[in-house]
Amino acid sequence: MKIQVPDNVASIVPYPPGKPLEELEREYGVRNSIKMASNENPWGPSPKAIQAIRGALENLHRYPDGSGYYLVHALAEKLGFSPDEIVLGNGSNEIIEMLVKAYVQNGDEVITSHPSFLMYQKIVQVRGGVNIVIPLTTGMHHDLATILSVITDQTRLIFLDNPNNPTGCPIKPTDLYSFLSAIPESVLVVLDEAYVDFMDSELQVDIFSLIRNTKRRCGVVSLRTFSKAYGLAGLRIGYGLMPSQVAGNLHRVRQPFNVNQLAQVGALAALEDEDFYQHTLRRTREGLNYLRSEVDKMGCKSYPSQTNFFLIDVRGDATLLYEAMLHKGVIIRSMKPYGYSDMVRITVGNEEENQRFLAALSSCLHELAYV
Ligand SMILES: Cc1ncc(COP(=O)(O)O)c(C=O)c1O
Repeated sequence: MKIQVPDNVASIVPYPPGKPLEELEREYGVRNSIKMASNENPWGPSPKAIQAIRGALENLHRYPDGSGYYLVHALAEKLGFSPDEIVLGNGSNEIIEMLVKAYVQNGDEVITSHPSFLMYQKIVQVRGGVNIVIPLTTGMHHDLATILSVITDQTRLIFLDNPNNPTGCPIKPTDLYSFLSAIPESVLVVLDEAYVDFMDSELQVDIFSLIRNTKRRCGVVSLRTFSKAYGLAGLRIGYGLMPSQVAGNLHRVRQPFNVNQLAQVGALAALEDEDFYQHTLRRTREGLNYLRSEVDKMGCKSYPSQTNFFLIDVRGDATLLYEAMLHKGVIIRSMKPYGYSDMVRITVGNEEENQRFLAALSSCLHELAYV
C-alpha cells in the first residue's frame, strides 16, 4: 500500500486495550482471575436495566431513537436542565470526541493535565490540534495557576477530570470557581465528572449554575457517564451537560444514531434504580476505606480518593508488582507509564475480590521484598 498516514495519526500510541480475561488466564496459567483495573462497577448492571434491555431485544431491527428522547427528558427532569442542554454519547468518551471535532482545528491549542484521562490528548492529536500538557502538582492535583498562565489566543478547550484519573484527587470548588472567573470567554472548560457520583457532596461543584450563569464567564461543559456508578460500561453510554449553544454544535458533528437502543433503554432504567445506585455508592465507600487501611497495614502507602479507585505506593517497581499480581490472577494497573514508578491503581471490587486482592498483594510484596 502506498497511502501515507498523516504524521499526527502515525505518532499516536493506541489506547492500551486489556486482553479478555480468558486469554490472560491461558497465558498465565491461572483460573478465576479478577479485574480491578478499569474502574468498573463490581456489582454488575442494575437488575432493572437488565430487565429493560431484555424487553427491548425484539426491536433491534429498528434504528435507535436518534434524539434519545426519553433518556434526555429523564435526565433533564432529574438534574433540572433543559433537554437542549444535554447531549448523549457512545460513552462520555464520544462527547470528548465531539467537543474536539466541533471546536478544534489544525494548530488550535487544548490544555490538559498529566497524568489525566488518556483520551483527551489522543483525540486532539487526531484533529491536528496542539496539546499543551501541564503536570499535576506534587500533591497530585490539577495545577490551575499554571493552566491559567499558558492560555493564549489559540486556546480553545481545557479538559479537567474532576476527580482526576488516576489520582482520585478532586478540585476544591472554591478554587474552581475563581479559576473559571479568570478564563477568557473564548475558551470552553470541560469538567470531566465521570466519577462525580462517588464524591463527598461538599466537594461537588454546582454544575447547574456554572452552566447556566455564563455572564462574563467562559462556557462550561460537564461530562457524565453510566459506566461507573450505574454499572453499564459494556453498553457505552454517557452524556454531557452544557449551554444549549454548545449542544447545538455537538449535534452538528455527531453521528445520527450514535447511542444504541439497548444503551438508551438500559440507562433509563438504571437512572431510575435508586436502590442499586445507593448500594453501589455505599459499598464502594466501605470497600475503599477497608482496602486502604489493610494496604497501609502491609507497609504500603495508600492515597485518599474521591472515586471508586485509589493509588498505592508499593515501595518498589510498580510494573514488576503488576506482573506478579497477574500470575496470581489479579489484574491491576501499573502507574509507571504515567510517571508514578512505584504506584499502582486499584479499582474497589466486591467483598470477595477485595479479599483476593489483599491476599495476592501481601504475598507479592513479600516475594518481591518490597516491604
Ligand atoms: C476520567 C474519565 N473520563 C471518561 C472516561 C470514559 O468513560 P465512558 O465509559 O463514559 O466513555 C473514563 C473511563 O474510565 C474516565 O476515567
